Amino acid sequence: MVDNQRNSSQEHNKDPIRVVTALLIFTGLIMAIFLIINTISNNNDDSTEELRSKIIEEIADSVNNNSSTQSEVNEEAILKFELSGGLFKEYNLKELKSALKTHKIQFVDPQYGKEKRYEAFSLQDVLQLGFGDKWKSAEYTDVAFGALDGYTAISTILKLQELGGYIVYKDLDFNNWEPVSIREVNPGPFYLVWTGKDQTTANDYPWPWQLASIDLIKFDTQYPAVVPKGIAKDSTAYKGFEIFEGRCIRCHAINQQGGTVGPDLNAPQSIVSYRSENMIKEFIKNPSKYRYTHMPDHPDLSNQDLDNLISYFNYMNENRD
Ligand code: HEC
Repeated sequence: MVDNQRNSSQEHNKDPIRVVTALLIFTGLIMAIFLIINTISNNNDDSTEELRSKIIEEIADSVNNNSSTQSEVNEEAILKFELSGGLFKEYNLKELKSALKTHKIQFVDPQYGKEKRYEAFSLQDVLQLGFGDKWKSAEYTDVAFGALDGYTAISTILKLQELGGYIVYKDLDFNNWEPVSIREVNPGPFYLVWTGKDQTTANDYPWPWQLASIDLIKFDTQYPAVVPKGIAKDSTAYKGFEIFEGRCIRCHAINQQGGTVGPDLNAPQSIVSYRSENMIKEFIKNPSKYRYTHMPDHPDLSNQDLDNLISYFNYMNENRD
């Protein structure tokens, strides 16, 4: 045994069985700790919340200590600022850091399902630096956050004027970024998060990772083929459009305008022309019941919301240019 040989040279360690036993106990202890951590992180009970974050922080510290280099962020990573798709300005991380106040934030990140610690800029500071007062002018209605992989998250500017949004540039729990989602993507170089309890994707807050560009847009000009024309704002179809704009367009297009993660829902054929209304409503509410899919569940949509969406799809189907 290798252990035997090593121990025989040490006078005070005469009993190799004791050493092996100690090793076994030690390994057992480590496994037990992992089991406990697993159990705790599967438990959403508030009382374990503090304990959980402590354990996670300790693990994080040991990970950090093992590394030789301190900062793994790419200071050259570029964030673009665009106006209706045209480049307006760009800054690299180094420039952003020297121009903006940096924050250390800590909260339960729903994308990871656990507490995370980050270094970040406040979203409002970033918008103000990139666009000046333009981002508050009536000329623009929405912001399109563009990701490296082509994903675009759209949000009304009204939402972005709330506090709680941060653009993260460094994961403090991990040397390089901790992979996120089942696809294990690296969320850097920039990752938009919200620290408010109700500021979730389910409530239409944009959470793009791999953020590369921030585009100030006027929705009706940017996505004319998605907007239902000639109907009242209090009609069911228009209300359905508003839900689509807030929750669906980041993945779905209408008439080839919008996201490309999911299928176009109106072109070449409308979803309502080849699926039953009930099936569509069921699916929108609970896609994970039917498929392993990248489409998230929408359990909070009411029957009225779902009817409004159908009404919007019908309207877009019947009113083609
Ligand atoms: C994060 C991306 C994402 C979001 C957000 C999203 N979807 Fe989807 N959706 C998908 C993908 C991907 C598919 C493709 C089929 C699949 O994976 O099941 C899909 C499929 C669908 C289908 C077609 C199902 C079928 O095969 O007949 C409908 C209808 C649909 N989505 C509606 C919506 C509506 C309405 C919203 C907003 C309330 C929405 N989706 C939000 C990604 C998304």
